[in-house]
Amino acid sequence: MTVTAPDVLGQDGLARRKASARSYLMCPPKHFAVSYAINPWMHPDRPVDAERAMAQWDELRKTFLLLGHQVHIIDPVPGLPDMVFAANGATVIGGKVLGARFLYAERAAEGTAYLDWFRQDGYQAVRVPKFVNEGEGDILYADRVVLAGHGFRTQASAREEIEELFGLPVLSLRLVDPRYYHLDTALCVLDSSTAAYYPAAFDDAGRATLASQFAELIEAKDEDAEVLGLNAISDGHHVVLPAQARGLAAQLAAKGFEPVPVDLSEFSKAGGGPKCCTLELRS
Ligand code: ARG
Repeated sequence: MTVTAPDVLGQDGLARRKASARSYLMCPPKHFAVSYAINPWMHPDRPVDAERAMAQWDELRKTFLLLGHQVHIIDPVPGLPDMVFAANGATVIGGKVLGARFLYAERAAEGTAYLDWFRQDGYQAVRVPKFVNEGEGDILYADRVVLAGHGFRTQASAREEIEELFGLPVLSLRLVDPRYYHLDTALCVLDSSTAAYYPAAFDDAGRATLASQFAELIEAKDEDAEVLGLNAISDGHHVVLPAQARGLAAQLAAKGFEPVPVDLSEFSKAGGGPKCCTLELRS
């Protein structure tokens, strides 16, 4: 008789996913607005409801706390309407910090604001970047390897800096659809061997890289990618994702993850979702 170890398989026979507590950095959307357009989602003539944005952001913050994660807060700087998108502020792995360097002048000062936060918080290894990189928007950690998107924002040459600082191999992925201008709009790392992605946002080489890297790949449908469904955060078990991405939520649940929907519709007007508002601090 074979006995199934209860800690390996869930009741339904699906591999049981395991959550681990995370630490995040977030920036309140006090100055959030769409006052310029640097991606196809942004239309400055379509107003943002500031109060609603703050309430949606606060729900996201509370969701993380309820899931047992820590949330640190960086003070928002007036005149930087996209600073709420903390994912772009840096990349933090093993307590080391690679600062961000933004492609567009409108966001340039965010790089310094985030670097200052890390220095003041006592981080020792804080690197000022040479090449353009928009933090975790394009740089995703996948346990012993880093995935780096390029094509719209982060320069392909940022790869060397990432490898050198973190001592991890970097897999480059070219983004080909301007709607998915940051890697975290088209790919979500769910755990070390599982990811969800939108195939049409990558070229053939990128799709092949992802297929060789992840044992399990969930393919998001057009309608879920189009509501920024892949802009999600996994703790290994819970996946916080846009509430509008119902199909993707069902696909995740079928694979043993627990979808946790949040409504960040005000932020999609700027081309952002829950993951964009969240920077993981990995010690
Ligand atoms: N309006 C911002 C920009 O275009 C949105 C950033 C979204 N952040 C992200 N991690 N994808 O730069």
